[in-house]
Amino acid sequence: MDVLVINGPNLNALGQREPEIYGSATLADIEAGLVAQGAAAGIAVAPFQSNHEGEIVDRLYQAKADRVRFIIINPGALTHTSVVLRDAFASVKIPFVEVHISNVYAREDFRRHSFLSDLAVAVLTGFGAYGYGMALDYVIEKLEVWSRE
Ligand code: DQA
Repeated sequence: MDVLVINGPNLNALGQREPEIYGSATLADIEAGLVAQGAAAGIAVAPFQSNHEGEIVDRLYQAKADRVRFIIINPGALTHTSVVLRDAFASVKIPFVEVHISNVYAREDFRRHSFLSDLAVAVLTGFGAYGYGMALDYVIEKLEVWSRE
């Protein structure tokens, strides 16, 4: 697997959860789209969702063991709370893009701070579900450049 796509707490409920903020696409729709987008470029994409911080940390160490090359993550509310997740990314050193469906800067103040953004290669916020595909486009491009180097 080349790219791991992680969705954190409550993102299992996409499509039903506050659709006025997060849209109508389900997580299954988004994940299937990303797997197909990756396959079209010869890139293996594996989706993972968990509502549990520790499971995401375990998944990151597994990704390191599996030599995953890039991660796309929507950490959900863990973005704003989790030193644990930050430390895990700092430890595994796998490059990642942070994605938010909503524009976190247009919402409550507490959503303005991310424990991950300064470790991320890039951050996409407010593009809706489309942000995942934009992130994967970038990652595919990056992996192609690396494979030519
Ligand atoms: C989110 C934004 C977070 O503030 C929120 O806690 C989420 C989803 C987004 O995708 O817009 O669960 O990451």
